[in-house]
Amino acid sequence: MTDLATLRTAWLDRVADAADPAALEEVRLAALGKKGEVALMMRELGRMTPEERQTRGAELNRLKDEIDAALRARRLALEDAALDARLKGEWLDVTLPARPRPRGTIHPVSQVTEEVTAIFADMGFSVAEGPQVESDWFNFDALNIPPEHPARQEHDTFFMARAEGDDRPPHVLRTHTSPVQIRAMQELGAPLRVICPGRVYRMDMDQTHTPMFHQVEGLAIGRDISMANLKWTLEEFCRAFFEVEEVELRFRASHFPFTEPSAEVDIRCDWSGGQLKIGVGESWLEILGSGMVHPKVLEAGGVDPSQWQGFAFGMGIDRIAMLKYGIPDLRAFFESDLRWLRHYGFAAGDVPSIEGGLSR
Ligand code: DAH
Repeated sequence: MTDLATLRTAWLDRVADAADPAALEEVRLAALGKKGEVALMMRELGRMTPEERQTRGAELNRLKDEIDAALRARRLALEDAALDARLKGEWLDVTLPARPRPRGTIHPVSQVTEEVTAIFADMGFSVAEGPQVESDWFNFDALNIPPEHPARQEHDTFFMARAEGDDRPPHVLRTHTSPVQIRAMQELGAPLRVICPGRVYRMDMDQTHTPMFHQVEGLAIGRDISMANLKWTLEEFCRAFFEVEEVELRFRASHFPFTEPSAEVDIRCDWSGGQLKIGVGESWLEILGSGMVHPKVLEAGGVDPSQWQGFAFGMGIDRIAMLKYGIPDLRAFFESDLRWLRHYGFAAGDVPSIEGGLSR
């Protein structure tokens, strides 16, 4: 007769060694299945004496129950292990910090400066820059504004303080971007096509004026550049910038010391419904000053006025930003209020749309 103790150890070992539910099921069938080892041994009971049968039968039943219990315990253990493994693999740390999202926006002044630069770049203008603390010669004299000229007072100039005995030439915070015209001519000579965007300063503060604001200067010098070229250039610019098919500009005779003749330029628009529409309507809105560069200004820039002539214009960047994007108060531009910046700011991907604007 088979030794049941050895058999028991062998089966319990096999149960313990089963590595997964399928292996465990194989062990179950081999031990307790209809043709399993224990079942076959049960069959032998028939050939035994009643006494033998009684003891052997009870022993076999106990063995069967033990293997069965071991199988159940092993199955539960395997299921627990499988669940553990799954939990480990699918674990999610909800305390991890979120992925960073860009929070800043591009200021409307930066956006519009980019737009203006891109449009003029398409027309062959490059960008020139000059200092914000400027000598009064560049800011005034070179632009045909002599010391006694009333325009000096009109500019509400910030003057740089000078200590006693400091005899460096007087400096101001530049009141306009026009001095960059002189610097560009001196550096690059003629012919020339530049725009000069940048900060300018005047002592002034209300809904449409701040002590610091932005202008863009334009300058084109050639052998026979005329007011007609100025008009075309500005019309092309406005079409592209305001993204409208038709624009109409009105040149109004004016006076600037640095241009002759001079004109202020208005754009046709419509204010009905409180919404500004460019290119239609019965209203006119002043957007810039312009003219033919004064011979004295060419001379100050080292350009011979008997050989060269050209046009210039100056435009408020903040002002055209307010018009294009419907921003009512200039002062808010420089208050750094996050709510305002989020509302009026631009995403990094918002590139100037000049597509079609210039080709129409
Ligand atoms: N510099 C002028 C200002 O700040 C604007 C201006 C007018 C610039 C006419 C020009 C120009 O170049 O031709 O008010």
